[in-house]
Amino acid sequence: MKPPVLQVEGYSKHFELHEQGKLIPSSHNVNFSVHAGELTALIGPTGAGKSSVLKGIYRTYLPSSGRMLYRDANGRELDLAQAGEHQILELRRWEIGFVTQFLHCLPRQATLDVVAQPLFALGAAREEAREQAAELLAAMNLPQRLWSVSPATFSGGEKQRVNLARGFIAKPRLLLLDEPTASLDPATAERVIALIEGLKANGTAMLAIFHHPEVTGRLADRVVELSPPPAIEELLKEIA
Ligand SMILES: Nc1ncnc2c1ncn2[C@@H]1O[C@H](COP(=O)(O)OP(=O)(O)OP(=O)(O)O)[C@@H](O)[C@H]1O
Ligand SMILES: [Mg+2]
Repeated sequence: MKPPVLQVEGYSKHFELHEQGKLIPSSHNVNFSVHAGELTALIGPTGAGKSSVLKGIYRTYLPSSGRMLYRDANGRELDLAQAGEHQILELRRWEIGFVTQFLHCLPRQATLDVVAQPLFALGAAREEAREQAAELLAAMNLPQRLWSVSPATFSGGEKQRVNLARGFIAKPRLLLLDEPTASLDPATAERVIALIEGLKANGTAMLAIFHHPEVTGRLADRVVELSPPPAIEELLKEIA
């Protein structure tokens, strides 16, 4: 079997709020692997640290401990927990995509350009990139009248479709998805599920959190259950 695209070992994250003298546990001792053409799903109760795992891999958060071994397109292995800022930015540009729960966009930027942005960053021609963006938005059933306006004032479900199209467009090798179908109507959720199946068939490795257990059951090749973080006293003993 081919080695995993991502192997996470003993990943933990906690936050030290110095001003308040508090320690907040987030993810605790998480282990799993993600493979090309497969989807690994994270499950667990609210606050178990699922989103924090994705943020650690994307390095929005710097992990407190553990290894996150990523094998890049050239077969080189790199620990995302140790990688430098420049390496992380390059990986975000070329290999690792993240569809977060919220859309970050500039006001006055047309939806087509928001979606095409990852391709612009790779040096794609403007019109070609916008055509691909249009294809994805059509596949996700976003009404065409919205394509030329900014998504800043879109509804939750409309924003989520823009966010997904933007995450899919550059065909990342590793795609992180945080509740991608949570605010979609059933018909649109089905379209997104079909797109995720298509990405899998094309070899994309995915790590995802789904709001509905039924969707996890349909799409996941591996399921990893996160347990709630330990009591503060336990955590203090561990990190002492
Ligand atoms: N930046 C932060 N500063 C302080 N605490 C944080 C931060 N980010 C996350 N946490 C804490 O870490 C814990 C895990 O949060 P996380 O968002 O990963 O949970 P989750 O499993 O994704 O939950 P949900 O299912 O509700 O989305 C929570 O208790 C949260 O308050
Ligand atoms: Mg979450």
